Amino acid sequence: MPHSSTNVAAQGGHFHSGDEPETPEEVSRRQFMVNATITLSGVIGLGLAIPIVGSLLPSGGSGKGVWSPLDPAEWKQLQASTERPIKLSFTMKSKDAYLPEETNSQYVWGIKADQAKMQKARPDLFGAGGKSIFANIKGIEPYNVVNLGFVMFSPICPHLGCRFNYDADQNKFLCPCHGSIYTLEGAKSSGPAPRGLDPLPMREQSGQAEVMWIRYQDSTPDHVLISYTS
Ligand code: FES
Repeated sequence: MPHSSTNVAAQGGHFHSGDEPETPEEVSRRQFMVNATITLSGVIGLGLAIPIVGSLLPSGGSGKGVWSPLDPAEWKQLQASTERPIKLSFTMKSKDAYLPEETNSQYVWGIKADQAKMQKARPDLFGAGGKSIFANIKGIEPYNVVNLGFVMFSPICPHLGCRFNYDADQNKFLCPCHGSIYTLEGAKSSGPAPRGLDPLPMREQSGQAEVMWIRYQDSTPDHVLISYTS
């Protein structure tokens, strides 16, 4: 019976109005929508991918030295000190091209010094005509080694990278690892270190003393910059 067969078909759900066989136009419209969705997802994916790739690219400022303000109380201590070296701490902000900004606590050794005295004690830090060694180190701007009457030394021993200390009894810097000893001007007195202590650029900015951290290559007689981060 035509009437009952319609009911059976309707109950099976195959021939209600929404399931009419599609016309070629409908097929092509549906295909168009599928393609458009795939294309749109691709565009969104690309949009997400660009910032990710972008964050992997070195930022314009990478590879440059960063000035960090020295602790003001310790800076005052250094200004008041006569002979004794002073440990000056600071917080260093560094930005690797591939990682978020990092901050870490660091310190340098500061001493009072004048240009003539330093040139005599550390000829390795000055070129012809008393020109600062910073002018000869690839990648560093030609800052003065002696600035405002002070010199800042990296706390890293140039032998194999340990941290040296100041020994008040001997009035010298001593490295606990292999016994290198340095004068207050940073000249090597004895031990296996291949050179004297490494200077760091220092400046005063709006009444605030700042230092630039540099990591030098160890175990070489020359001062070779390897990085601006620790
Ligand atoms: S690391 Fe300082 S003497 Fe060896």
